[in-house]
Amino acid sequence: MTDTDTRIYKEKDLDRPSVQKDIKDTIQSGRNIIFPTETVYGIGAYALSEEGVWNIYRIKGRPSDNPLIMHIGDTDMLDDYVHVDQPYVKTLMETFWPGPLTLVMRRKDSVPDTITGGLDTVGVRLPSHPVALKVLSIADVPICAPSANISGEPSSTLFEHVYKDFNGLVDIIVDGGKSDVGIESTVLDVTQATPVILRPGVITRSMIESVTGHADMSSALEEDKVPQAPGMKYKHYAPSGELTIVDGEDDRVVKYINDKIKVHQASGKTVGVIATEDLVKTFDTPYVYNIGPRDDDAEIASNLYTALRHMDQLGITHIYSVAFRESKYQEAIMNRLLKAANNNLIKV
Ligand code: TXA
Ligand code: MG
Repeated sequence: MTDTDTRIYKEKDLDRPSVQKDIKDTIQSGRNIIFPTETVYGIGAYALSEEGVWNIYRIKGRPSDNPLIMHIGDTDMLDDYVHVDQPYVKTLMETFWPGPLTLVMRRKDSVPDTITGGLDTVGVRLPSHPVALKVLSIADVPICAPSANISGEPSSTLFEHVYKDFNGLVDIIVDGGKSDVGIESTVLDVTQATPVILRPGVITRSMIESVTGHADMSSALEEDKVPQAPGMKYKHYAPSGELTIVDGEDDRVVKYINDKIKVHQASGKTVGVIATEDLVKTFDTPYVYNIGPRDDDAEIASNLYTALRHMDQLGITHIYSVAFRESKYQEAIMNRLLKAANNNLIKV
């Protein structure tokens, strides 16, 4: 499906007045632009444009009761859109903005229902990626931007990912190379005296607690609970192949996966494995994705969606991933991986 001639810009193009005019006009007239952030690429629209926001839901195939994050380039904008109720919120902003932290605050009437799914709160984030900040500054308005992926599929951390999914469907794509963090922002509800983590990210619970003293994890982050962040209830990040996470001692994990490889290969299936560097040579399939050194959780996070997309590109039908349990980002990484696997985790 293509219905638009997508204009592709590189970071250096953003200094050209004609490109700046194009970006500003495109956003302000309710059209869509894909741009990199430090977490993942986002598909953006002017937050107050009903048309632009509906287009996001339409293009992504996203359920419209799943609210969008509003990106701002400057904290001066906050007062127009939200109530900052709790005293610790300002310190959180000073400590972690710009950066991968989304703060869910009580919204003002200026924030349209189209982006909040009818909730009386809105998530706001000031990203740190220079290209995102440049786009926000050129647009001079708040930009709603969910992750730029077809709803339910893995998010995008490379230009190639968004080009494949959205060329011909949006007006502009800005190529900013790799999104370094690789998984989406931490979503934190800051409407109450104790903040609640609705989605884990690389701004971890202990980092937040260093500012607020205490933070709760949403009970919805436990299995079998009713979702609180509306996005939690939908299928997420899933590759086309069937993904299984295998969790346990290394030698048992390797043996389990190699046994499965034998079984699947006997029936003509292709099997892929996602593993840390130290293990990649231990599997009996050519399709092993090296996600990074075991102790480099930042690297593992940054390669997670590429790994899942890589398996799809190869047409792999059965994907096995090791579990990642030894890092400070494990909460965030395992949250995404478990969703991608539809909670299909085998303990060995
Ligand atoms: O890193 C990110 O946050 C990326 C980049 C592009 O900024 N954006 C992103 O957006 O991940 P999205 O739409 O894919 O995820 C937003 C998450 C969803 O789980 C949504 O349900 C939750 O934030 N959310 C948004 N507004 C909320 C609100 N008012 N209350 C509770 N959850 C909210
Ligand atoms: Mg998303």
